[in-house]
Amino acid sequence: MRKYSLPEIYHERIASLLASHDLNLLSKARLGDAVLRLSDHYIQNPSAASPLKESWAQAAYLTYYFPLNYARNRAVVEQGQKSGFFAGLTNFIDFGSGLGSASLALLDENLAFQSGLCLDSSSIALDLQKDLSGDAQNLGFQVASRFSADLIKANSLSVFSYVLTELDELPPAALKSEALMIVEPATREDGRKLLEIRKTLIKNGYYIYAPCTHQGSCPLLEHSPRDWCHDRISWEAPQWWRAIEARLPMKNRTITYSYLLARRTPPSELQKQALLSTARIVGDPLEEKGKTRLLICRSPKREFLSWFPPRLKLKDKKSLDFNRGEVLNLPEGLEEKSGELRIATIEQADLVKRI
Ligand SMILES: C[S@@+](CC[C@H](N)C(=O)[O-])C[C@H]1O[C@@H](n2cnc3c(N)ncnc32)[C@H](O)[C@@H]1O
Repeated sequence: MRKYSLPEIYHERIASLLASHDLNLLSKARLGDAVLRLSDHYIQNPSAASPLKESWAQAAYLTYYFPLNYARNRAVVEQGQKSGFFAGLTNFIDFGSGLGSASLALLDENLAFQSGLCLDSSSIALDLQKDLSGDAQNLGFQVASRFSADLIKANSLSVFSYVLTELDELPPAALKSEALMIVEPATREDGRKLLEIRKTLIKNGYYIYAPCTHQGSCPLLEHSPRDWCHDRISWEAPQWWRAIEARLPMKNRTITYSYLLARRTPPSELQKQALLSTARIVGDPLEEKGKTRLLICRSPKREFLSWFPPRLKLKDKKSLDFNRGEVLNLPEGLEEKSGELRIATIEQADLVKRI
């Protein structure tokens, strides 16, 4: 599984911000209580505003939620790089930037951005973000509670990370952007809402670069009332983070999220050609009666990639060890039967490659 961690520089910056709350990274009891309190707040009021004014909430965001959302955004940015999504984008607007998990993930990937503007209704969040970013030269900060089209320049990327869940809808002005990066919690409700946004974006002339490998209707939205598209990565948490988590009922060895990367500029012919033989894995592996099945997406059809491990006699047991969120290159000639694409021979298995 793809692995993500928090760079050391943020451990130091978080530690120095905690000092002003009379805390440090090893204050696991107080930090655990703060995270539980914030988690209860979200469970009781799923769409309520973030309580950033509270010292305990700031401590919980800094130590627990910022690292998780940073890792999620790094993973999304990596998918964007693989699909050519960032080509020619020169500036970004991060709306509801909070502590900056999306902006910092973008900057840390050394993309060609010349500037980024972080907008949040909370000046406290922006102050924390300034410190976490180490006063990065090319980041601007503005207190704002409305996304306005005036902010959008040519070649702008608009980013919404874990913020639509606090807004009623994607701000209509966002549709003026050349590119959109939206990251949301991997809940059925938020995930399916995002798939409805995908439909709106396509109707408005956008092309989806990821996670979709096609521009057709979404099989998860259209063929099931229960499915929703989400990704899963491995979270390589720092030791101090694990010590806080040990005090919590929730465990996050792997973390999930839903996302969309969309642009007005269509993918290049080369990218389109390359995508024709690919599929995204949109489910966790299912083992049943000697058969392995993976829900995949490559068209409006709801399909599984399947194989019988004992019959294939794989030389390397790990060769079909794939995970949710990965894109696979599929060989020609796989048999299609009752919604399944069957890997029937060891030669076919050898040709299924992760991209
Ligand atoms: C859950 S946090 C997400 C922060 C960050 N984007 C991330 O991915 O970690 C949501 C943020 O959106 C901000 N926010 C909520 N409603 C807003 C609005 N109408 N205008 C600007 N910011 C808003 C909150 O202050 C908070 O910082």
